[in-house]
Amino acid sequence: MKEKILKLLKDNKNEFVSGQEISEQLNVSRTAIWKYINGLKEEGYEIESVSRKGHMLLSTPDILNYEEISEYLSTQHIGREIFYYDSIDSTNIKAKELVYNNEGHGTVVIAEEQTHGRGRLGRDWSSPNRKGIWMSIILKPQIEPQDAAKITQIAAAAVWKAINQIGVITQIKWPNDIVLNGKKVCGILTEMSGELNRLNYLVVGIGINANIDNDEFPKKILNMATSLKNETGKEINRRELVALILNNFEALYNKLINDNSTEEAIKICKENSALIGKNVRLIIKGEEKEAKAIDINEDGELIVKDKEGNISKVISGEVSVRGLYGYI
Ligand code: BTN
Repeated sequence: MKEKILKLLKDNKNEFVSGQEISEQLNVSRTAIWKYINGLKEEGYEIESVSRKGHMLLSTPDILNYEEISEYLSTQHIGREIFYYDSIDSTNIKAKELVYNNEGHGTVVIAEEQTHGRGRLGRDWSSPNRKGIWMSIILKPQIEPQDAAKITQIAAAAVWKAINQIGVITQIKWPNDIVLNGKKVCGILTEMSGELNRLNYLVVGIGINANIDNDEFPKKILNMATSLKNETGKEINRRELVALILNNFEALYNKLINDNSTEEAIKICKENSALIGKNVRLIIKGEEKEAKAIDINEDGELIVKDKEGNISKVISGEVSVRGLYGYI
């Protein structure tokens, strides 16, 4: 009911909607309307309530709940169920808990702040309150476990395309980073549960540094991390960006499931790669190797050529890729 009242107020933004109108349209008592309106005010919606005139929505808070995101959402399944938190340890951890409580495919977990945000290879992920997008998507695809890497490429392509749709051109640093002006603005952490030949579920965690100011980054990552706002000078509309990512993700994901095709996702990853054509350092279990990145294949693996001219595939799981002199 709260969502319906909010929609009615949004449809009549900056106009009063009388209690009687709400009550008639939604078949709800006046007392109940007051309760819902007060709830909305507590969440940060600015609503003017005047007796005999009704309620007028003046402004909406910058929050990432379903009501705010759905305005921009065009998906069928992904993000149609959103678990929204002010503050939790990690959306990936919460997503895994939800799977054990039978939450289904397409459910998304979003938090305004993570107290123990997790990055790849056991690293921490800084996730300050309302400054970024910290979300995880639960997926239950019928694919082989070795194909899970394709999903990370699909997520990277979806994020790249969404950021592009809001007018910012970034690059994709295989396998899971989005970079802008040589620094990281997004990381993706795909976690999988399965057996040798059966995948139970995937959790795709996406972290985007949207509106973080420079002084809010931990000092140790300042030389390699930045935010979209820092680089563009513009405040990012986080709810629009969340929805665009989910819209793009569903479209690319459906191509994999329905047509077994990663063509479009890999094309995006290749055409906007921060690595292809560059000499890189591969750090695998602490050991470093130099090579030139030459391609990404349809399975989402990086193809590299070493100094002797040997060509090999790099699988994303345990590798860190760095430029020869820094992050890229
Ligand atoms: C990386 O680049 O190392 C991956 C970072 C992934 C961060 C996101 S934020 C939402 C989700 N929850 C987490 O704890 N991690 C991922």
